[in-house]
Amino acid sequence: MRLSPGETHPSVDLDRIDLWDARLYSEGRPHAVWRALRQQAPVHRQELADGRRFWSVVRYADVCRVLRDHEDFTSERGTLLTALDTGDPAGGRMMAATDPPRHGVLRESLNRVLSMKAVEARRDALLKPIDRLLAPLLTGEPTDLAAAAMDFPMDFIGTFMGLPEADWPRLAKLTTMAVAPEDADFQEGSAPLTLVSAHHELFEYFSHQLSARGTTPTDDLIGQLMTTRLDGSPLDHETIVYNCYSLILGANVTTPHTITGLVQALMDHPTAYAKAAADPSLLAGCVEEGLRWSSPASHFMRYATRDVDLGGQRIRAGQAVAAWLGSANRDEDVFTDPDVFDIERRPNRHVAFGFGPHYCVGGALARISLRMLFERIFTRIERVEPAGDVRHLASNFVAGVTSMPVRAVPRDEP
Ligand code: HEM
Repeated sequence: MRLSPGETHPSVDLDRIDLWDARLYSEGRPHAVWRALRQQAPVHRQELADGRRFWSVVRYADVCRVLRDHEDFTSERGTLLTALDTGDPAGGRMMAATDPPRHGVLRESLNRVLSMKAVEARRDALLKPIDRLLAPLLTGEPTDLAAAAMDFPMDFIGTFMGLPEADWPRLAKLTTMAVAPEDADFQEGSAPLTLVSAHHELFEYFSHQLSARGTTPTDDLIGQLMTTRLDGSPLDHETIVYNCYSLILGANVTTPHTITGLVQALMDHPTAYAKAAADPSLLAGCVEEGLRWSSPASHFMRYATRDVDLGGQRIRAGQAVAAWLGSANRDEDVFTDPDVFDIERRPNRHVAFGFGPHYCVGGALARISLRMLFERIFTRIERVEPAGDVRHLASNFVAGVTSMPVRAVPRDEP
């Protein structure tokens, strides 16, 4: 997805806005569309050709309200537009599709491996993925950063989940197929077939992993799920499989696009690159601005549990509401000059990791890995330059790229 609204502030015809269409994100300017909606129709309703409808909220305050208020807006009927009105078999079982208070039990369990403190204790597991990502860049030859970045989270979530390394490349591809089935680069057959076969293969895979584990407890995320008790009983096989799926998806489809989005922004702003490289105290803020700027999860969805008035519109019980995080992160009521990339932005209360009870459980892992990665990039690489055309991912959920050729200029070894 293009991360700027475009030079000329193109005019947007509100009657023709189609937030569903994956081509808006691969070919269009979603930030221009979201800006027009924030100004003119902040709570917007769209009807699809097949009659299904959904609301969209695009302002920061409304996005936070919908994501925070689990009593008015449930996660249990599905949280992504791709599954609009299809129901969610994982509702009440997969953490992301479970409302409090049950949600808290699953969350507390996974937090034992994913809290800031727990991730800090496993920092070493992040060194190899960082080296692997940097290796092609350090040759100084053109390299596709999108392809290299796609493997990065798999390289650490694979370790955190205790999965065999030989399986990681296929798992990385399957997760992208599951969230961007319309994208030609990842399609295997038609889009619906891609989605179904990706889900099927991932569920089969985790089911098999689980059966092969036996009963000996392990100190990884799957081991944690195996020892969790909900309502006095251990989690059943299917519930563990759903949560494995959610963990791998959460890590794989978001983190790579923060890397490419932040590198793109730093290539566009070489002064910011030089400044961040020269002053380590700017590193954390640089990553936060990269998260705000790239907002890799464009939306999450909820269903109203009762009639709710929001932004002058009445949302009826049972209707779907997509909360557009990418738009909230450019809301001019919250961020000064939101379309300016500023690594020294203070405060920077972005919602790239969501808001409320479902705030990203992998946030600490993502933050620490990104900080460590960019620290190494700044230390080893003088600058990064574009080396070809960027291809944008066709997905209304993930804001990302499928190809981003770059050439790095390595620093002289001391
Ligand atoms: C830059 C990287 C990441 C971004 C931008 C991101 C974004 C998000 C967002 C916006 C949510 C909220 C979903 C909702 O409200 O329904 C979320 C939840 C979640 N994320 Fe992440 N995520 C990232 C990395 C990760 C990683 C590394 C993992 C795996 C450890 C992960 C696993 C999850 C899970 C399991 C949830 C559900 C949490 C819950 O329901 O309590 N994410 N993420």
